[in-house]
Amino acid sequence: MATATLVLNPFLSAREQPDGSLLLKAARRGGMRIETRFGPGGLSRDWGEAILDRLAAGRVEPTGLPPQALPLLIRQGLALLDTELDGLPGFRVPLAAGAAEGGEPVPLLATGSLCPAPHVSLPWRCVLSGGEPLWHQRPGGPVLPWWPDPACRAALRSLDTQIPTPVPPDVAATLLREGLAVPVGGAAPSVTGGGREALAAQGFVLVPGLLPPAHLAAWQAYADALVAAGLTEHSAKAADRDTYHGDPVGTLFLHLFRPAAEALAGRPLVPSYAFLSAYRAASALDEHLDRPPCEYTLSLHIDHRPRPDGPVPWPLRIRPGPDTAPVELRCRLGDGVVFRGRRLPHSRPRLPEGDRSTTLLLHYVHPDYRGPLD
Ligand SMILES: [Fe+2]
Repeated sequence: MATATLVLNPFLSAREQPDGSLLLKAARRGGMRIETRFGPGGLSRDWGEAILDRLAAGRVEPTGLPPQALPLLIRQGLALLDTELDGLPGFRVPLAAGAAEGGEPVPLLATGSLCPAPHVSLPWRCVLSGGEPLWHQRPGGPVLPWWPDPACRAALRSLDTQIPTPVPPDVAATLLREGLAVPVGGAAPSVTGGGREALAAQGFVLVPGLLPPAHLAAWQAYADALVAAGLTEHSAKAADRDTYHGDPVGTLFLHLFRPAAEALAGRPLVPSYAFLSAYRAASALDEHLDRPPCEYTLSLHIDHRPRPDGPVPWPLRIRPGPDTAPVELRCRLGDGVVFRGRRLPHSRPRLPEGDRSTTLLLHYVHPDYRGPLD
């Protein structure tokens, strides 16, 4: 007899609350959202964490769980039977050299270093479906996962020894395009560069190319898949958009971008929440200030349709002072803007008819912040 197995719902987000409880949110097909709290006033936190640990560690047979666990976990959307996973969107960033072109090997330098997998207590299954990633961090930049083909993996490991090693031209082209290497003699500047001074002085800064091209493409496909799978919520209240508060990959990136956000802010920060927003035609964002968990916002412009050659034709407007005209920030896809949305009123004009635009907002607070994190 076939045994059904359970896996952790890849669309689960888990977040510790200021009162010490563990808040779990899960979304399922149709956009239904479930919240469960382990801790004060809720289920036993120890019990819940033990179950989630076992699920996160790999598939477990339902019979291995406490008798009350199976129906509860499924009902709460915290676990899924493995057959339910078919067709759910994942996230994978391949790094593959193009067709071999021959020619002389190219001497390159790595722009950063390989690093061990960062410890974040997140649902890894949906992002690790491509096997073990190689983690890489450029100076001042986010920690990003890659799934390289053998040629790229060998080149990256070789470059990481700090000894310039010539690599085949097709591999070199890939590493240069994704910002993982520079030509010998070239500069490998910090990703966030002089952004700290600009952010301190004016409360906002545009950081070009925060998301490498392959990561940008993966995000575009993932965001489309979330909407198509009915896992986003549609709202036409403030703006006509499909949103996902705390999607698993966005929550992962919230943690992975923390070093970059801290480099820009010049101080330690604590992640609060990620918010994916796919705007539909004629959407506008009225001028507003943000809520307390949004002390710093890192806005990544993920997509725009039709795809622009240059800057996205939907600027972010930030008002630096009460008597000052708004500044228009025009991002290219993959660029990021970090801004103090609690202090500076910001808005977007009406999205042109027929256009769509998608942003991922990563929010951070100061370590002494005591309040809701979502
Ligand atoms: Fe805002």
